[in-house]
Formats: sequence, C-alpha cells, structure tokens
Amino acid sequence: MDSRKRKPPGSDGDAIHSATSDPGVNLATTASAPPRPTDHSPLEADGYFQNLYSSEPSFRQLAKKDPEFAPFLNEHGQLNFSDPSAVMQLTKTLLAKDFGLQIELPDDRLCPPVTNRHNYILWLKRLMDTTSYAPAGRKLCGLDVGTGASCIYPLLGATQRPWCFVATDIDAKSLGYAKRNVQLNGLESRIRVLDRKPEDALVPLGHVGVERIDFVMMNPPFYTSEDDMLSSAKDKARPPHSICTGAPVEMVCQGGEVAFVGRLLRESLVLRECVQWYTAMVGKATSLEALVEQLRGHKINNFAVTEFVQGSKTRRWALGWSFGPMRPAEDIARGIKASIWRKLLPPPSRVVMHALPVGQATSPLINRIIEVVGSLELVSWNWEGGKSKGVGRARENVWSRAWRRKKQRELAEGQFGGTGHVEGASEEECQLGFAITVEVGTHETTVSLHWVEGHDQAIFESFGGFLQGKLKDTGTTSQK
Ligand SMILES: C[S@@+](CC[C@H](N)C(=O)[O-])C[C@H]1O[C@@H](n2cnc3c(N)ncnc32)[C@H](O)[C@@H]1O
Repeated sequence: MDSRKRKPPGSDGDAIHSATSDPGVNLATTASAPPRPTDHSPLEADGYFQNLYSSEPSFRQLAKKDPEFAPFLNEHGQLNFSDPSAVMQLTKTLLAKDFGLQIELPDDRLCPPVTNRHNYILWLKRLMDTTSYAPAGRKLCGLDVGTGASCIYPLLGATQRPWCFVATDIDAKSLGYAKRNVQLNGLESRIRVLDRKPEDALVPLGHVGVERIDFVMMNPPFYTSEDDMLSSAKDKARPPHSICTGAPVEMVCQGGEVAFVGRLLRESLVLRECVQWYTAMVGKATSLEALVEQLRGHKINNFAVTEFVQGSKTRRWALGWSFGPMRPAEDIARGIKASIWRKLLPPPSRVVMHALPVGQATSPLINRIIEVVGSLELVSWNWEGGKSKGVGRARENVWSRAWRRKKQRELAEGQFGGTGHVEGASEEECQLGFAITVEVGTHETTVSLHWVEGHDQAIFESFGGFLQGKLKDTGTTSQK
C-alpha cells in the first residue's frame, strides 16, 4: 500500500538470498535431460511433486507401467523387501516413472528409498522458499555431503527446481556410480561430483571456489560401529552389506550420526552465513534431541525440525539451522507432531491473533490493519490485496511508547530526520520482518502474524501484542 517504502532485500532478483555463487556449474544447460515434469515452471510442477506419495504407491499399478518391476511381485501383488534386487528395482521404477530419472547401482551399496529421500527435498524446497523475500522457486546452489552411489538428492533436487549441486563422497566406488548417474540424466552442467578424504572439511567452499552456498544437506552415516550395523541388518532379516543396509564405509562413522552432524555444526560456527541453511537427516529422535541441545548451547535460535513418515513403519527426522535472520514458515520449522518432542521445537513463528465469525465482512478488519501498520515508521510495508497479505520490515520496535517518546525528544532537539532513519543504522538493518495474513476459513476468518525475519523473539511478541490491541475492537476477538 505504502509505496514510499523500499522493497525487501532478496525480492525481484536481488542477490542477497538467491544463489550468489555458482560452483562451476552452468544452470542454463538442460537441453540433453530427458523429458520431466519440470519442463513446466518449477512452481506449476510443485503440486505434482507434493502429492506424489501422499498415498502409498500401488505395486500392481507400477507393475502394469513397468514390465521390469512386474516379476518381483508375488501373486498377491506384494514385494519381498528382504530381496535386495526387488528393492533396487522399486527404486529404479519409481525414479523413472515419477521423475524421469535413470540410475545404476552396484549391489553392495545403499539403495535409497525414494519416498523418504523425496520427503527431504519437499521440506528443503519449502525451507528455502519461506526464508527469502524473493518469489518461491528461485535458482539455488546446494551441497550434498555424502551423496552415495545413487547421487539421489542432487538428482531429485535438480529435477524439481533450477538448482545446482556439489555432491561429495569419500568412497571411490560410490563416486564412480554417482558421476555415471549424473551423466545418465544429462545433468553434468548442474551437478558436480567431488572426491573428498575422510579428514577433509565437510563444506569445502574454498575447494569449490565459491564464497557462499545456499544450503547444505546430508544423510550421514548412521551407525556407530560395524557390529551395530550388522545387528540391525539381522533384526530386519536382510543380508549383511546388501543394497538395503549399505556397506560399512557408507553407513558407519565413529560416534554415528550425532558425531557427523556435530562436525557440520562445528564447521558452521566458523562459516556462519556463508551457508544460508545447514540441514541433515537423522534416523533417531534421540539424535535429534542431542543435536537440538547442541544448537541451543551455541545460542542458535533460528532452526527447524521435522519428521518424515513413510507408511506406518519408518520414521526419520530432519534438522536445519541458520545464522541468517530469515525464519521458516511454522509448519517447516515445527514439523513434529508428537507431544513428547514438543521440547525440541523452535519458538512459534505464527500467531493467530484475531478471529471473526464466518460471514462477517472482512473489509473493516483489513482497512484497520492497513491503517495501523501503515502509520508506523517501517522500513517497508506492502499490502497485497489479492492475497490478503501484507509484508513489513521494522528497523526497531517503532510501535512502542518508548520509541515514540524517543522520537519526540529527538525531534525537539532537531536530531531526527523524520523518516524513521536512526543515526548509524544502514538501510538494510532490520530487527523484525513480518507478514500479516487474513484467511477466510469455513468457521471463521483469522488474522495471523508471521515472524519472517529477525533473531529477537521479544520484539516479535511485542509487535504481536501491539497489533492485537489495535485490532481488538474490530469484530470479535478470540485469542489463541
Ligand atoms: C548413509 S549414506 C547416504 C547416501 C545417500 N546420500 C543417500 O541418502 O542414500 C552416507 C554417505 O556419506 C559418505 N561419507 C562418509 N563420510 C564422508 C565424508 N567425510 N565426506 C563426504 N561423504 C562422506 C559415505 O561414503 C556414504 O556414501
């Protein structure tokens, strides 16, 4: 609404939150790739990818579509998950049918379950989309640490978004297959496979020749020892070192997944905003608990946790943290439902602050929001009528009495410029970025405040209190 205010950083191609560095790969060349759903715009295809595994894939349907899959089903249409070749064929069939991807795998390395790996990509897409003022679906560069023989994450990511990847591993056999899988899909221009040594840094920005990268992802070696791995394979009635369990070189590291992600955390304390989001998947909730404790110990308050559920059996968790100020959407940051794990969640980033009974006109409420927020000395404030959404940025708590008194004092002393500009503060400095949405539901119309940017929870809550007070006379208030 208020056009005197600037656009936020990162919008309309501003480089701050888009890929600022291209690790030697050319995003433009995709001509040799096989036809894929992403031949449309990435966002048009998002709905397709989002719903791919909302119900379990039907094996009978898959067998009809892929003659190579059919022989692995018994007469009841069931797949024998303890048969490594059946599991490998399922992965190949799903990748081909749903993503247009082909892969080759050795029979002594991990065969990735597609639905679980896809869940990580879906979460990562929303994590990145909701932590930028730029339109969703922008070009990004990521690092996959420990890509495995399949190179599954870069393949899935590059298929769905205009992303480029550096994919690392320490295992020569896996690296050979990973390179082959990139070539098979014509993605050499967007995925660079990099050979690393176990003692090398996990995030080799210098080696890649870039200063920044948008995200790091990893599915770390899970087991603390080979015995640990073999006993787990026995419990699941799988042959040891098969395609289902993986080889010790890819599945075992001293200290297991907590130690491996802990290494990434230590590197991140040095690299800080050279990476916007550091993320990892873990196989145990207790590992997540230990890692969240470590984050809190380092006073990292901008983090996200989620769980990936496949059918009724397998559950995995993911964790992401950032030193930057952009905060993920509530469902992405606090994606764990079970109440026993509530203690792991970061602070809420969405507050429902006002509700009207359904059928009551929303325009007085919207006009009030526009009037109240528009009257503040914000760095920027734009109301998008079509979306019933406003986005604003505040340099400091300009709604407080203390700020107004300070301003009056400074005006009286002739120090204040009258534009909200504070001596010494740069144009970009901003303690709070927020969005206000008005949503018409089946039972009520709600106004929500979203914490979009900033590290200070108290300032977000203070703004919420101010806004709630200003809206309380507009229709019926129900506090949640
Ligand atoms: C659990 S596997 C994950 C493979 C693949 N990303 C997936 O999700 O199916 C872990 C991978 O990390 C690799 N790895 C172990 N230590 C590593 C290191 N220091 N740097 C890079 N990769 C490493 C292993 O060789 C293995 O391929």
